[in-house]
Amino acid sequence: MKIIKNPTVLSQDYIPENVIGRKEQISKVGEMIRMGSSSSSFVIRGNPGTGKTLIGKYLLRELKEYNGIYVNCYVNQTDRSIVSAILDDPNIRLPELGNTRSESLSGILFRELPERKNLIVLDEAQSLKKGHGQIVYTLSRSKELGGPDINLVLLSMEEPEMYLDKSTLSGLGKYNRIPLKEYDSKELYAILVDRVEAGLYEGSFTYSAVEQISELVEESGSARNAIELLRNSALYAESRNMFLDEEAVLQAYRDFSPPLEDSSLINLDQEEVRLLKLLLESAYIENGFKTSDLKKLGTGISDARIYKLLKSIELSGLVKKSKIGKGYSGGVENEYILRVPSNVLLSKLEMIERLQGNQER
Ligand SMILES: Nc1ncnc2c1ncn2[C@@H]1O[C@H](COP(=O)(O)OP(=O)(O)O)[C@@H](O)[C@H]1O
Ligand SMILES: [Mg+2]
Repeated sequence: MKIIKNPTVLSQDYIPENVIGRKEQISKVGEMIRMGSSSSSFVIRGNPGTGKTLIGKYLLRELKEYNGIYVNCYVNQTDRSIVSAILDDPNIRLPELGNTRSESLSGILFRELPERKNLIVLDEAQSLKKGHGQIVYTLSRSKELGGPDINLVLLSMEEPEMYLDKSTLSGLGKYNRIPLKEYDSKELYAILVDRVEAGLYEGSFTYSAVEQISELVEESGSARNAIELLRNSALYAESRNMFLDEEAVLQAYRDFSPPLEDSSLINLDQEEVRLLKLLLESAYIENGFKTSDLKKLGTGISDARIYKLLKSIELSGLVKKSKIGKGYSGGVENEYILRVPSNVLLSKLEMIERLQGNQER
């Protein structure tokens, strides 16, 4: 039976009419921008699927009196490419020699940006290449540096301390932090109900199936996972000529792994990819690992390095973490259950390794 009426509604890029559980954040940021409050920089931090991109796009849509610009830093990772994305000009010319690179980029930026108020949203800000936070400094200090009025919104999975260097951070000065919690099953349900009502044929689904989806993905708290499982369930039901009921959801869930094209995975650096591969290939991994397994990885890997790897793995949404007690030498022993089959993850890592190898050359 036909189930999907409007596939767009089931895609991740779709911007819904109704925002569930994030209205407060949107109106708070909107108000502060309009009031021209003391700091015009915002950092909205949240795990994958917590609505960051959605909030950014809503702000751009609602603050019509601003010149709105959206840049995905995963696509544009350097200062230079961000400036050309902001100016919508892939061939910006570098001006006279003598200026430092960043000065000349800010020179162009300030010259070309319109005088009126600007709202710049940098999405996936944790993807900024090391040493390329200068643009963040320039944008956040625009007024003082003699540039136009710029309100800056950073959307990221990590705290800025993780990806901006010290001088950029101090340049950013006082900014407004807006943390996003994971969604609970009620919120996920409400998000899904809007989607099924707009995207599926009436009578082709049951609400208890929708409820089940929200419960199955609640542990990740990710609307992205919820929508992906909904889509898979609808496709499954359609292909079997059945209703989208609880049975269809369970069947789809058996083969479900959270969407993997998550940029955070691609953003593991070479060392992290190598360590994670090593970990997955080691004998003691079946569907998860413990903190102590990481320490067994090999000598010469510092604790700081391991801590950073763990943080990256956690942020990628690939594992579910639970505390299992005190480990040796006083550290906490955690257990990490893979959300994705380890062979799937391994082949993905191998692909990334090849990509990284290619970029080097
Ligand atoms: N509060 C919400 N209400 C309705 N849809 C939402 C909400 N939050 C997220 N979504 C939807 O879930 C998907 C993932 O959200 P997204 O904003 O891309 O998350 P993030 O950028 O934090 O990874 C998108 O399709 C988005 O439209
Ligand atoms: Mg996003």
